[in-house]
Amino acid sequence: MDSFSTLIRTASHEQHVEAETSTFMSDLLGGRLGVDAYARYTEQLWFVYEALESGATRLASDPVAGPFIRPELLRLPSLERDLAHLRGPDWRTGLRALPATRAYAERVAGCVRDWPAGYVAHHYTRYLGDLSGGQIIRDKAEKTWGFTKKGDGVRFYVFEEIGNPAAFKRSYRELLDAVPVDDLEKQRIVSECKRAFALNTDVFRALGEEFPLSA
Ligand code: HEM
Repeated sequence: MDSFSTLIRTASHEQHVEAETSTFMSDLLGGRLGVDAYARYTEQLWFVYEALESGATRLASDPVAGPFIRPELLRLPSLERDLAHLRGPDWRTGLRALPATRAYAERVAGCVRDWPAGYVAHHYTRYLGDLSGGQIIRDKAEKTWGFTKKGDGVRFYVFEEIGNPAAFKRSYRELLDAVPVDDLEKQRIVSECKRAFALNTDVFRALGEEFPLSA
């Protein structure tokens, strides 16, 4: 039987392709969007990571979610530096969650509160993605809008404390494989992962509507 890390990756493959090829992501990676769209996207990420990380200390001692809570992953401080760079010192004043972002953040917060195994699905979907495809987005953002390499504006994508991302991802997959739940609960985690991808795609759709290309 496949390991759980293989199962969750293969089961969410289709959703991954969908997120990756969404109009907003394609336009972003194609260098067709202005920096304002990138800033707006970064603002949406703030709400998602606020939900993921504000409850993290509470989950640290949980037998299922606890092993995933690693300080070197925390993104909120980097996001806040990026936003100060993108929007200026008053970045909080204009910060608005799109309805799709609110729905996503509420789902994460609900898992933090009531379902640590569901939280693992959200944790995996975001952090392993940031460590993987996130690096492609960073490279494109640096080139498109001229951010200093790994500097302000793209710090969200830079995991300063993870020297070897490939090794980190390997150990992360080992954590997934060792998650102490039965097969039925593993299936529920997989379903929640698909839902997490869909919530991301919803945010991309909303951003795509906000930043349509005139061409
Ligand atoms: C245009 C955007 C994206 C690109 C180019 C991209 C690209 C990639 C690549 C190349 C990998 C494989 C890396 C490896 O095996 O080491 C990967 C893995 C992953 N991506 Fe993405 N991705 C994108 C968007 C997303 C989004 C929006 C999410 C979810 C929010 C996501 C979640 C993941 C996850 C969870 C993995 C880890 C799969 C695993 O090994 O278990 N990605 N991505």
